[in-house]
Amino acid sequence: MMRSVLSRRDCLGYAIGGVGAATLASCQTSAPKDDRGDIPLKVLAEAKGLRFGTAVNQSQLSDEKYVEIVRRECGSIVAENEHKRYTINPAPDVWNYGPGDAIASFAKDNDLHLRGHTLLWHKAEWSPKWVNELEFKTTAEAEAQLRNYVTKLAQRYNPQVYAWDLVNEAIDDQTGAFRETSFSAVMGENIIDYCFQLAQEHAPDARLVYNDYMSWEGVSAAHRNGVLRFLERLLKRGVPVQGLGIQSHSNAEMPDEFTRVKRKDWIKFCDEVVDLGLEIYVTEFDVNDTRMTKDIAYRDQAMASYTKDYFDIMLSYSELKEILIWGMVDDQNWLQGFMPRTDGIAKRPTLYDENYKPKAMRQALANSLQHAPQREQGFF
Ligand code: XIL
Repeated sequence: MMRSVLSRRDCLGYAIGGVGAATLASCQTSAPKDDRGDIPLKVLAEAKGLRFGTAVNQSQLSDEKYVEIVRRECGSIVAENEHKRYTINPAPDVWNYGPGDAIASFAKDNDLHLRGHTLLWHKAEWSPKWVNELEFKTTAEAEAQLRNYVTKLAQRYNPQVYAWDLVNEAIDDQTGAFRETSFSAVMGENIIDYCFQLAQEHAPDARLVYNDYMSWEGVSAAHRNGVLRFLERLLKRGVPVQGLGIQSHSNAEMPDEFTRVKRKDWIKFCDEVVDLGLEIYVTEFDVNDTRMTKDIAYRDQAMASYTKDYFDIMLSYSELKEILIWGMVDDQNWLQGFMPRTDGIAKRPTLYDENYKPKAMRQALANSLQHAPQREQGFF
């Protein structure tokens, strides 16, 4: 695959050397502003050759205020849970397409691009119980099981889905080893190769991406290393993986712990990924404030500052094609229930508060996009 036109260092120089400011000025004068006087995030992103979007779930489709934010800010959406196997195929003979189709129709009706998530969540915890309990006697049996599911889904949403987070979370976050599942028991890592081959055949125009939650966090070193080695192995075997989806949840360490050393380690990881010739996508950004002080002003400021620092790094890669936030409104974000705060107060993980008002984090991302280097090629 082609290495990007601009190197990361060129990009940083570009942003710091004043051209970023010129771009900002031209963007501010020419871009259409919304009724709040803001330039929508999708406009800022598209001006730089990127896409911007969010996760949406089925209940949000009837939340007018949520829909208004999606229409205002987003160029693409991804289903939060509706295209996962636990929703679509919760029991062997149950096929529940309704919720996923509703998300796909919403995307069509609103001229939004649709990202697919995910055809193989290779982590038993999130795979239906009946799938985990399958005992295959032969590789052919396991392949047939996988083929039936992946083919059905890839065809159903082809060609609407422009990119699939095809395989999700196949690497153990503690050891960096390939995870064991009922499929890998007979197929080993070849289950991944097979899944990519199927998707390539049945969704030939979609970008095929491996998606995981390795992060800048100190505790993520083994995970980062495991993902890199895994991607190297896939590429060596000729698996048609085109990009890495960087989920961008940070759960164990807080946004005000994004130190210089951790940034350096993170940049090293991202450099190695793009050096493999892969595109990168920020697929599920949100910010976890589980262990931060209660003080809302402090939290909002620290989370905004982290958002700017994180995206300044990510946007310096011309290989970054898209940014997706994992839900746009604080009280509807999954982190409220995942690792809740011990004091029981609400977290503030996203760009809009519970009253659908934009927060400092939204402005931080807008600033980062305005100062981002221009991609020479537009979005694929
Ligand atoms: C989460 C959803 O947001 C929750 O509603 C659900 O209960 C569990 O999954 N990594 C992923 C996403 O790839 O699919 C997860 O989404 C969040 C972590």
